[in-house]
Amino acid sequence: MKINIAIDGYSSCGKGTLAKALAAKLEYRFIDSGAMYRGVTLAALRAGLDMRQEQPLLDMLPNVELEFAAHAGRQNELFLNGSWVEEEIRKPQVAAHVSWVASLPAVRERLVAEQRRMGLHKGIVMDGRDIGTVVFPDAELKIFMTARPEVRAQRRFDESQKKGIEVSFQEVFDNLQERDRIDSSRDHSPLTLTDDYRVLDNSDLNPTQQLELALSWVDAILVNLR
Ligand code: CDP
Repeated sequence: MKINIAIDGYSSCGKGTLAKALAAKLEYRFIDSGAMYRGVTLAALRAGLDMRQEQPLLDMLPNVELEFAAHAGRQNELFLNGSWVEEEIRKPQVAAHVSWVASLPAVRERLVAEQRRMGLHKGIVMDGRDIGTVVFPDAELKIFMTARPEVRAQRRFDESQKKGIEVSFQEVFDNLQERDRIDSSRDHSPLTLTDDYRVLDNSDLNPTQQLELALSWVDAILVNLR
């Protein structure tokens, strides 16, 4: 018996790390919904669109094809119209515009429809902002992740340094704050903590500890479903 697991929360608080580890352990499929919003943003940037205007982006949308596939031995990497973009979608230029793109209802409707199709047969771990509220409201386990803002910015800054992305700590910090503000206050499916979530603050937990905690929740749910 398989369940769907929704992991939502603020920017850069380790949702992806937990989602990947859970999927590997349970032999489920991991989907990074944020990568899809980043993919649409990258397509718009590549097309040279003015990022303050909605209509050109909506006109472009039917020509954007997103797919997750293996690349260089890694699973679930994002492809945009057939080309591998997993690295490029993580760059500050994409981060700077993605929350605006993700606030557009037409973009959300299109991506949410794709995400729901992926979850039809259960066995999905998906992370994002609206997975437990909109994409899979009936997910058996919903986790809301959070961590102190300085901790999150430090983690993302360290990640960027490792990848050789040129960005300062302050820029990372400011971008996370700004995205959290937009993501939590937008009209269309904002990031919202409802009482069916289990909250996981991982400020002082390492990846193994957060995985153990989440697995204990999964076990409790599976026992009840048997
Ligand atoms: O990895 P990080 O936490 O920085 O962000 P992400 O998960 O890659 O998501 C990038 C952006 O996409 C978020 O800041 C949101 O604006 C948007 N997003 C969303 O609106 N809904 C989702 N389900 C996932 C991401």
